[in-house]
Amino acid sequence: MDITPRIGKPGPGSKPKITADLLRWYDSHARDLPWRAKPGVIADPYRVWLSEIMLQQTTVESVKPYFAKFLARWPDVTALAAAEESAVLTEWAGLGYYARARNLIAAARKLAEAHGGRFPDTEEGLRALPGVGAYTAAAIAAIAFNRRAIVIDGNIERVVTRLFSITTPLPGAKSDIRAALDPLVPEDRPGDFAQALMDLGATLCTPRAPDCLICPIRGGCSAAKAGNPGDFPVKAKKKAKPVKHGVAWLAFDAAGRLLLRTRAPKGLLANMAEVPNGGWAEGGAPPSHAPFAASWTPLAVPVIHVFTHFELRLAVHVARLASNPPAPAGMRWVSPADLDKEPLPTLFRKVIAVGA
Ligand code: ADE
Repeated sequence: MDITPRIGKPGPGSKPKITADLLRWYDSHARDLPWRAKPGVIADPYRVWLSEIMLQQTTVESVKPYFAKFLARWPDVTALAAAEESAVLTEWAGLGYYARARNLIAAARKLAEAHGGRFPDTEEGLRALPGVGAYTAAAIAAIAFNRRAIVIDGNIERVVTRLFSITTPLPGAKSDIRAALDPLVPEDRPGDFAQALMDLGATLCTPRAPDCLICPIRGGCSAAKAGNPGDFPVKAKKKAKPVKHGVAWLAFDAAGRLLLRTRAPKGLLANMAEVPNGGWAEGGAPPSHAPFAASWTPLAVPVIHVFTHFELRLAVHVARLASNPPAPAGMRWVSPADLDKEPLPTLFRKVIAVGA
């Protein structure tokens, strides 16, 4: 093995102490996650890509069952490329941020058609795929292709701002974090290094009450030394989310079936299933008409759902019919047993749950 230290770039024989200590810790403490290879082993790009897309804005625990379902149904990128969009949206339902699912199919089709089902192995090539931004490209390049990419997610931001007491408020601190992290990224195990930082952030260097006493890199940590890790990362003040209001109509026929329709092909929750409603707006609900005349009972409490850019309060009216009329134009009756075949986002699952 070449153990000559390389100036500037840390090579296999010349790791900074923080890097070496963190990798040693990862070798015995790495979380066992379904998309991961064992430390030191290169992972399958399809599993890495699928997991990284699912993990955007979503916790590891929420992703696990979805990852298993997807992998069982579409074991590789060619299988996913051949899937119907509605089937993918249905399997995705509940994970949120549905643009991710649409981009997933678009990327799979692009990979199947233009790349022979193989993933590009550089950050630049990966970034050209729909739904793959700077973070995701770096993560896949490092984890699946052993490229020396600088991976920065929320956990890594927290760890690095503490290590170096970076006081620039997020989200503006990206370039400071990148500059501090770059010299630590090893040439030989960049994927393990990124995932070690993620695991450290998820298990020890947590937002509240970090466990510095057993941290493998506390010796090199500025905030641990100062005794103030809880002060990092510094965050810019968030603006309060606007609140939107709407009215939804939850109807059950005599057979216990539920009235649903499909949302428009563009915009929020495009092509997903929904309970009939009059849309939503700030300041008050837009005018909304029941899908048919019936005895509608308003529920006392609205269903509240928080989207990225606003909070929604939906007033729900429920009707239980004594007959089985045909569905109004553009709508359908769906039996409870068939609900899991519908691409129903969490918002409308909540609406159904309060009225059922
Ligand atoms: N969050 C995003 N990517 C992850 C990964 N590869 N391991 C653990 N947590 C993650």
